[in-house]
Amino acid sequence: YWTVDKNVDNSESYSQLEEAAELLQQNETVAFPTETVYGLGANAKSDQAVKKIFEAKGRPSDNPLIVHIASKEQMNEIVEEIPEQAEMLIERFWPGPLTLIFKIKKDTLSSLVTAGLQTVGIRMPDHPVALELIKKCGLPIAAPSANTSGKPSPTTADHVFQDLNGRIAGIVDGGATGVGVESTVLDCTEAVPVILRPGGITREQLEDAIGQVSYDPSLSNIKEAPRSPGMKYTHYAPQAKFSLVKGSPEFLQTLVNEAKAEGLRVGVFTTEEHAAFYEADHVLSAGTSQDLATVAAGLYDTLRKFDTLPVDCIFGEVFPVEGIGQAIMNRLTKAAGHRIIEEK
Ligand code: TXA
Ligand code: MG
Repeated sequence: YWTVDKNVDNSESYSQLEEAAELLQQNETVAFPTETVYGLGANAKSDQAVKKIFEAKGRPSDNPLIVHIASKEQMNEIVEEIPEQAEMLIERFWPGPLTLIFKIKKDTLSSLVTAGLQTVGIRMPDHPVALELIKKCGLPIAAPSANTSGKPSPTTADHVFQDLNGRIAGIVDGGATGVGVESTVLDCTEAVPVILRPGGITREQLEDAIGQVSYDPSLSNIKEAPRSPGMKYTHYAPQAKFSLVKGSPEFLQTLVNEAKAEGLRVGVFTTEEHAAFYEADHVLSAGTSQDLATVAAGLYDTLRKFDTLPVDCIFGEVFPVEGIGQAIMNRLTKAAGHRIIEEK
């Protein structure tokens, strides 16, 4: 567990990253910060190394991993061809929270990374610690979020420690991550690129850069089979029964009162603006509704906090599905197992 200065500018941080990079070269797993969430990294070229990721997380083997790179040269070694639209997105958003899906060159990576698919997801993270670590080990790094499968993703080194201590070789602690939700996953193998997972780069930003992009229908209709294998799994769920509430704070409070009358201990997931309004056993605010980026940044930490509190059920507010709100509502809906209670 190494503590590293976010700017990687002092010699101590530098030598600690060196140790972490050596472990990656020895095909061990190391968790590290990115601008979205913490990743659990391993050498993407080694079956032995990638296997350790799946084992540590308890991740289903049919769910492919994102490959993290620090230079475009590293990408060119792996990718068959880069469509023009993708070039434009790379120019505009890398390094940053955007994962692009390309056709993969044969025999360049462990086949476990892609879960047998002919495509690979690649991103260049916008975090000095992540970039320096990848540069130092000189390898493409496969890295899913560094949580136990099914739990909320980790936004601090402490979250990683709680989930994976004893199961991985090390954690590079670079402080809390910034964006707080994972990267946007965009399939670039089609003429009109498809958003498979909403995330840190919004649909509006993508459309501003390249014009039309489409949205995988399974994201708005749970009856459709998702094209991103990872999107079919239950995720981010707190232990208590979590429901989203579409309606006024007064309506949400009546649901709290009903649950309390049944003898249940009740939590409320809200924002700073409404926190003082609710009367419940535990009221947690993820951020301010004036700036949804703060809600994204606080989302997973808030969901994890409920697991440390004695609550039987949680009611959560909903957010506008635009900008970063798309990613927030995607994660909250999954955390709630699609339970949404609407005010009549
Ligand atoms: O922000 C992030 O993307 C973080 C940080 C650590 O970089 N990583 C992350 O990885 O969220 P993970 O493994 O938790 O999520 C990867 C998602 C999954 O939904 C997976 O199914 C999808 O990307 N994915 C990866 N490769 C794919 C491919 N070739 N085709 C379709 N979906 C793919
Ligand atoms: Mg994940």
